[in-house]
Amino acid sequence: MNWAVTTYDSAFGYVSAHGAPLVDLLDPQPGEKIIDLGCGTGTFTAEIAERGAEVLGIDAAPEMIAQATALYPGLSFAVGDAHTFTTAMPYDAVASNAALHWMTRDPDSVIAQVHAALRPGGRFVGELGGAGNCAELIVAMQTAWRVFGLGEPDLPWYFPSPAEYATRLEDGGFTVRLLEHADRPTRMVEGPDGAADWVRVYARSALADVPPELVDPLLERVNELAAPALRRESGWVADYVRLRFAAVRKPDGTAPMPEGPPLNGGAP
Ligand code: BEZ
Repeated sequence: MNWAVTTYDSAFGYVSAHGAPLVDLLDPQPGEKIIDLGCGTGTFTAEIAERGAEVLGIDAAPEMIAQATALYPGLSFAVGDAHTFTTAMPYDAVASNAALHWMTRDPDSVIAQVHAALRPGGRFVGELGGAGNCAELIVAMQTAWRVFGLGEPDLPWYFPSPAEYATRLEDGGFTVRLLEHADRPTRMVEGPDGAADWVRVYARSALADVPPELVDPLLERVNELAAPALRRESGWVADYVRLRFAAVRKPDGTAPMPEGPPLNGGAP
């Protein structure tokens, strides 16, 4: 599952995304104005700030922003929804690490807001779960839910294919400079109980409708089903697949026109 589309450009002095920190692909410059979209508790925001950029972390969850502000009191954070956020000034770059896959409502409106926040030539650099992400975990969940007579689990993520996301970026007024889709097996460090702990942390909405007395046996079954693929002697490994991209906002005047007739009815 190592399907990769990669194009390089001298604007990105970067050779391979495999394992390299995302901040190196972003390559923040001192004084640049950068947004960290879906900043969570601010870890990536702080990495960007360490390079000398002026960074604003945005997240939809007030509790994340509260935690980020407590951890990094010298940095700027704001509560905002990526589907609707606006900015008072143009930014040099928008970056996003492991957050875009939670923004499921309308990926195109997220891209449109990022476009509006950037100056022409500004960069949009990100990493999210790509198609096939967590496939073994998801199949284990779906099977366990079925075995227990429950409906389909609610899976609150968006894991696009590279082709789909590239098309969305191009249609949204960006030139795609780099796009990688790669397996990234990742040690599960959230808890000792492997896939069950992962579901408790990352798929809480799927557990919301499960009768409380079924939760433990259900998650035990998830562990049994996922173990052959994901449990190693050294511990549990999540079957993450990453989609990593770098895109540039096209110059003004090249963004596609909105669909529908022009407001003046097409008159010259
Ligand atoms: C991830 O790919 O980073 C991820 C996906 C779903 C839930 C949590 C994390």
